[in-house]
Amino acid sequence: MKALTWYGKGDIRCESVPDPKIEHGRDAIIKVTACAICGSDLHLFDGVMPSMQHGDVLGHETMGEVVDVGSDNKTLKVGDRVVVPFTISCGECFFCQRGYFSGCERSNPNKKAAEKLWGHSPAGLFGYSHLLGGFAGGQAEYLRVPFADVGPIKIPNGLTDEQVLFLSDIFPTGYMAADFCNIQPGDTIAVWGCGPVGQMAIKSAFLLGAERVIAIDTVPERLALARTSGAITIDFMDEDVYERIQELTNERGADACIDAVGTEPETKASFDSMVDRVKVALFMGTDRPHVLRQAINCCRNFGTVSIVGVYGGLLDNVPMGSAINRGLTFRMAQTPVQAYMPKLLERIEKGEIDPSFVITHRATLEEGPELYKTFRDKHDGCIKVVIKP
Ligand SMILES: NC(=O)c1ccc[n+]([C@@H]2O[C@H](COP(=O)([O-])OP(=O)(O)OC[C@H]3O[C@@H](n4cnc5c(N)ncnc54)[C@H](O)[C@@H]3O)[C@@H](O)[C@H]2O)c1
Ligand SMILES: [Zn+2]
Ligand SMILES: [Zn+2]
Repeated sequence: MKALTWYGKGDIRCESVPDPKIEHGRDAIIKVTACAICGSDLHLFDGVMPSMQHGDVLGHETMGEVVDVGSDNKTLKVGDRVVVPFTISCGECFFCQRGYFSGCERSNPNKKAAEKLWGHSPAGLFGYSHLLGGFAGGQAEYLRVPFADVGPIKIPNGLTDEQVLFLSDIFPTGYMAADFCNIQPGDTIAVWGCGPVGQMAIKSAFLLGAERVIAIDTVPERLALARTSGAITIDFMDEDVYERIQELTNERGADACIDAVGTEPETKASFDSMVDRVKVALFMGTDRPHVLRQAINCCRNFGTVSIVGVYGGLLDNVPMGSAINRGLTFRMAQTPVQAYMPKLLERIEKGEIDPSFVITHRATLEEGPELYKTFRDKHDGCIKVVIKP
């Protein structure tokens, strides 16, 4: 089959790889009808995430049609149309039982390596390094789905691929980011990053009752899209983000702040951001937490900082003094996608949201490597790429 594969920083190829096969009784094989490129894939493309190997198949936002099922899988049958969550989860362990699917303690075969780095291992993920299991991803013609009797959600007829594809990741992720904020009537939620995840967080904050959303980015078409969702926007290259949020909140600060940027913010945004860049280049640090610092400082006393932008290791100069003295709550996670999928599918069916509003580019697998660049560089108005193999 054809698939998008990783060969190092900036080197993604479309090539032929062996077709996946059923390896366990609970597996299923999906013929991919649509998949997407995620902001998290850019961390791989930029060589920020360790433990990738040449030839690894990328992709963790995937949907398609079931073409084969293992003998123990009683949930799926050939012909079912499903969306596959990016988290691989057994459905039975301590964490899965409690709905913390991204903390599954059985799905990462390389958990020893993750324990060394992080103390404990999270779940395995599709197409996301050997540290997280080395599973082949879904930017391909076919995908093997482990534990396919608990992960994929069946899609009713009448909904298009583009309407439901993002149930695999960015819609639950943006929704969780807003959910973490425990939104009360009258609340102002500030969202850093108007990429696809930030866009979903903005819409979700309104769905969950926010009175105002302040959206921060610098890319004009991303800010414009945030405004069409009802957000007030701040261009961080033109305005002082802290001052502007103070002004908008009667000097109190935002009720909750969402970091939907993570470890690769724009270097030119501020002095601390440039210092972070130098430290990472000199191997004196692993991450660039400029946005997290700003989100903490812009959050009101006893407010919530909700982190969905991804970080990999150790973060310098994070203002914990500000957080402890002012009673902030931190919430963060790789999304336990399975926990959110059913209710978010319901919201799509009811017409409360159509997540396809972020799509700007549609491509074939062959065009995939070029589209990684377009998406990373935010060229050609690119906000979200959908690939149809
Ligand atoms: N927690 C999860 O489960 C999960 C799931 C999906 C994605 N993510 C992460 O969410 C983040 C966003 O993903 P995306 O797909 O939207 O990616 P993206 O790269 O398209 O979006 C990031 C946006 O942040 C903006 N930005 C850069 N510097 C900024 C700054 N200083 N202030 C404000 N905005 C700034 C960029 O211009 C860009 O529009 C990534 O870190 C990704 O890894 C996490
Ligand atoms: Zn993702
Ligand atoms: Zn589990």
